[in-house]
Amino acid sequence: MVSSSEHGNFNLVIRDMGIDDIAAVFHLGEELFTSELYPYLYRTWDEWEVIGMYNTDSEYCMVAEVDDRLAGFILGTIINKVSWTYGYITWLGISPQFQRRGVGDRLVDKLIERMVEDGVRFMLVDTDPENTPAINFFTRKGFGNARRHVFLSMNLGKHEFYGRLISYERDKADRYRHRPRRP
Ligand SMILES: CC(C)(COP(=O)(O)OP(=O)(O)OC[C@H]1O[C@@H](n2cnc3c(N)ncnc32)[C@H](O)[C@@H]1OP(=O)(O)O)[C@@H](O)C(=O)NCCC(=O)NCCS
Repeated sequence: MVSSSEHGNFNLVIRDMGIDDIAAVFHLGEELFTSELYPYLYRTWDEWEVIGMYNTDSEYCMVAEVDDRLAGFILGTIINKVSWTYGYITWLGISPQFQRRGVGDRLVDKLIERMVEDGVRFMLVDTDPENTPAINFFTRKGFGNARRHVFLSMNLGKHEFYGRLISYERDKADRYRHRPRRP
């Protein structure tokens, strides 16, 4: 599927993500989901995230292009429950030079259109509570009922018990590596 439109003074194309887009999408995400700005998004973004979603939900993975350059991407999925079919926007990223020009808007519209065709009647999205641009963006798109979700984390290496478990596993691996080989 390809949809093209004149947007302000640039020609915006929204199309399905293809296998050749995977690397570019991953690198744009790396640029956007930085550890200083959004630690949780940063920790969960990697190439397997893009490859995995392309593998399981390719119909909900789309890119935006301006003059053959990647301007943004959206990766979504569907969650089927007895009462509702939910559409979930897992990742959305717009290249800094194309932000605030309606690219995110078009990507979300296209994804929702496709999801509605597939039975979705309820949309979900989440982001870091400090991510004001995204919260404003989604609020403007009509999302509401914001609930604060608390993410907790633990560095296992610094934990009294798990830290010892990690050392034990490391020593075990070392012993195995240095085991004399049978002739
Ligand atoms: C959030 C994001 C997807 C918005 O995409 P976009 O293409 O710039 O958004 P649009 O141009 O379609 O919509 C713009 C509207 O969104 C809101 N918005 C977008 N960026 C904003 C910012 N930096 N500050 C405040 N509001 C912002 C405003 O309501 C804005 O309307 P306005 O320009 O009339 O004030 C984009 O900024 C982005 O990629 N951010 C980094 C990645 C990210 O946080 N992704 C979401 C979580 S996975």
